[in-house]
Amino acid sequence: MYTDQLRTVLQYQNTIIIEATEQNKSLESAGRIISTLVEQKTRRNHHLVAIGGGIVQDLTCFIASTLLRGISWQLVPTTLLAQADSCIGSKSSINVGDAKNIVGTFYPPTKVFIDQNFLQTLHDSEIRSGIGEILKVHAIDSAESFNHVAESLQKMHANVDELQPFIYSALAIKKRFIEVDEFDQGIRNIFNFGHSFGHAIESATNFGVPHGVAVTMGMDVACQISTKRNLLPAPHAERMRRALRENYLPFSHVDIPLDPTMSALLKDKKNSSTELGLILPVGDAASIERVMISPDQQFVSQLRESLAELA
Ligand SMILES: NC(=O)c1ccc[n+]([C@@H]2O[C@H](COP(=O)([O-])OP(=O)(O)OC[C@H]3O[C@@H](n4cnc5c(N)ncnc54)[C@H](O)[C@@H]3O)[C@@H](O)[C@H]2O)c1
Ligand SMILES: [Zn+2]
Repeated sequence: MYTDQLRTVLQYQNTIIIEATEQNKSLESAGRIISTLVEQKTRRNHHLVAIGGGIVQDLTCFIASTLLRGISWQLVPTTLLAQADSCIGSKSSINVGDAKNIVGTFYPPTKVFIDQNFLQTLHDSEIRSGIGEILKVHAIDSAESFNHVAESLQKMHANVDELQPFIYSALAIKKRFIEVDEFDQGIRNIFNFGHSFGHAIESATNFGVPHGVAVTMGMDVACQISTKRNLLPAPHAERMRRALRENYLPFSHVDIPLDPTMSALLKDKKNSSTELGLILPVGDAASIERVMISPDQQFVSQLRESLAELA
């Protein structure tokens, strides 16, 4: 795919092809790529160009930020998720064992080139994955923003060109928060909405659900848990659920076992030593906030019910 369009890039001897798998987003894989770059005599005045989705982006960003104590890099995001969400925000994330995105750095690319044409060849599940993150970003903005995306879901599936205004608005919303909290010390944390549960679902299903689809399921679980704990009025959860469910529906049959989901949740980096740090929609405006919750029996049974409702 894209062999013709990228012929001038691929003919360079120092092009490295990376298979986009979560297993490859590891320290071992980063080490192997670094060894190749060292053999290729990479110097501090060289720069890396990542062409791909979030996995290639995360690996390249991590390597660029650590190799020779930092070399510059540029990004050509080719998935909807990478174009609408991960391409801004400076983060790299690497998995260690089953702890997802547990190691990382902040290291922005010097340039990002978004070419909408890449979206034409994405599988439906990758479009859904990107839409999941678009829904997340707009939920953080406001209930009205979320509803606007929700009303446009069918249109976006019918024609990828319809995605463009939502890519733009997602980046604009995210930019506003990054400018306040670039290093994720405070408010930017709410961009993890859907992610504690989402990462746990990815891990419990052995990555059987694409990242942004797992995040969509995670947002639904967050809404349900929030309602069960009287933190969110039920109509908000129902309103959000309609759009979230429409997005994750083709994956609703995937079995999500409770115990591995719970043990992955307990490893989440937002937790304190005794409590889960969850990002939940709360209150009359369904505002997205960080809530500390004890992982007690009541929580486990609420999680069991919420996972069952995804099916
Ligand atoms: N660093 C960040 O800020 C950040 C933010 C969100 C997600 N992420 C990470 O990003 C990863 C998910 O990234 P992703 O969803 O972009 O997917 P991906 O990188 O896993 O790619 C998904 C699949 O699409 C293929 N692909 C890529 N571009 C294509 C195209 N134009 N046409 C057809 N197929 C194409 C890939 O080869 C792969 O098989 C996760 O590991 C997640 O943790 C990082
Ligand atoms: Zn994400």
